[in-house]
Amino acid sequence: MTKNSIHLYYKNVTSDVIGPEHGISKSQFEQLAQTTAPRIVELNRQRNAGQTPYRDLPYNETYPQQVKTMAQFIRQDCENFVVLGIGGSALGNIALQTALNPYMYNLDDKQRNGPRLFVFDNVDPHQFGSFLEWVGDKLDKTIFNVISKSGRTAETAAQMLVIFELIEKKLGPDGLKKQVIATADAKSGTLRKIADAAGLRTLEVPDGVGGRFSVLSPVGLLSAAVCGIDIDALLAGARAMDKRCSNEAFFENPAALNAAINWHYYTRGKHISVMMPYSYSLKDLSDWYRQLWAESLGKRFDLDGKEVCVGPTPVKALGTTDQHSQVQLYREGPNDKLFTFLQVAHFSRDVTIGPAPKTAPELDYLSAQPMSRLLNAEKTATEYALLHDKRPCLTVLFDALDASTVGQFIYLFEVTTSLAGLLFHINAYDQPAVELGKDATFALMDKPGTEALAEKIRPVATMDKAFLV
Ligand code: PA5
Repeated sequence: MTKNSIHLYYKNVTSDVIGPEHGISKSQFEQLAQTTAPRIVELNRQRNAGQTPYRDLPYNETYPQQVKTMAQFIRQDCENFVVLGIGGSALGNIALQTALNPYMYNLDDKQRNGPRLFVFDNVDPHQFGSFLEWVGDKLDKTIFNVISKSGRTAETAAQMLVIFELIEKKLGPDGLKKQVIATADAKSGTLRKIADAAGLRTLEVPDGVGGRFSVLSPVGLLSAAVCGIDIDALLAGARAMDKRCSNEAFFENPAALNAAINWHYYTRGKHISVMMPYSYSLKDLSDWYRQLWAESLGKRFDLDGKEVCVGPTPVKALGTTDQHSQVQLYREGPNDKLFTFLQVAHFSRDVTIGPAPKTAPELDYLSAQPMSRLLNAEKTATEYALLHDKRPCLTVLFDALDASTVGQFIYLFEVTTSLAGLLFHINAYDQPAVELGKDATFALMDKPGTEALAEKIRPVATMDKAFLV
C-alpha cells in the first residue's frame, strides 16, 4: 500500500477563523465531542453485532478473488464493458473510473488499460439509442454487467431487456451466457431468477448492504478491476481508514469530526452541504457522496417514530468550473451552507503553462507555472473569499490521488454517514421514500396489480390544460 493518506482539515469552521456567530467555539467542540463519543461506541457495537455489514467489505477475501478471476477472463477478449444499473448500482462504478483512470481512457487506446467502460444509469432513449447503434456490430466484443439487487428496478430491467433481445437476435441464445454477467442478490430477487435460468455468470450483492454502501463489494469492484484499477489497494485504503474511523477518541476520528461538524451546522440552520472537489478526477465521487448523504439522512421519521422531516441537502460543485457559476451565491447569498473542498496536494501528472505573447505581458505571471499550482491556488483563493464572508469550510486533503486514498475517502464518508445517522437519530440504511416513485412507475407502465395506484395517479398523470400556458 502507498503511504499516501487523506486528512480532514477543520480549522476553517472554528470561531477563531469565522467568528462566534458562524464558527464553532472550543466549548462547542467539547460539547460535540461529548455528544458524538457515545455514538462512535454505539456504531462500533453495531458493527461487532453484524448490523453494519458494509463495514466488513474491505476485509472480505472471497469477493476480490471472485472479481479478479472474472476480470482476468473478461479482459482477454473484451473491448467494451457496459454496466447497466442505477443509484447505488452505478454511482460508485462511475466514481472509481473517473477518479482513477485517465480522462481520455475511452478514446485513447494508449491511455487505456482495459476495455472501454460505459455506465448507463438512465433510460433516455436518445442516449441509449445512440449507444445501441454504435455497439450493434461489436456485441461479441462487449460484456454487459447488469447490476441490481432487486432486479425489479424499472430502469435497469428495461435496459437489460433491450440488450437481451439484441444479443439473442445477433448472437443466438448462447450469446447471453458469454456476453452478460449479472450482479444480483445471492439467493432471491428477479435478477437472480433470470440469471440462474439463463445460466449467466454471476456475482453477488452482499446481504444487508444497501446499494449506496456497496461500492467496495462486487457491485463496484468488477468494473474497476476490468478497467485496470488496483482493487487491492482500494480495499487496503478502506481498511486503513476503518482503523481511524473506529477510534473512540473524538478528536482523532475524522468520520466523527466530519459527522459532528455537519450535524452541528444543520441544527443551526445551515441545511446545505456543498462538496467541491478541486480535481476533475474527484468530481464523480461527489456525485456518489450526494446519493449516500441524501438517501441515508433525508428521513421523515426518527428512530422513535416521531415526524422530523430531517436531512441536509448535498450539493455538488466543481472547482474551478463552478467558481464562475456558483461562488457569487455562495459568498453573498444566504449563509446556510457548509463547504467541503476536496484538494489534491500532489498531482501524478502536471502541465506547464506556456509563455505569454509579447502583446499580453499581463499574462506573464502564468508562464512556466505548473497548472496544479493554479488549481490549488484557486481553491485557496475561493476558500479565503468564503471565509471572508464567514462561510464555514472543511477540506479533505489527498496527499495524492491513487486507489488507496480513494478507498480511504469512500470509507470515511460511509462511516461519516453512519455516525451522522446516529446524531440525527434516524435510520441511515433505508430509503422508504424512493419506493412510492418506483411503484408509481409500475402503475403508469400498466404493470398488472397496480390498477388501484394508477387510478390515484390519474389526476397528476393527465395535464390540466387550464394551467398549461
Ligand atoms: O442505494 C440504494 O439502495 C438505491 O440507490 C439502489 O441502489 C437503486 O435504487 C437500485 O436498486 P437495485 O440495485 O435493486 O436495482
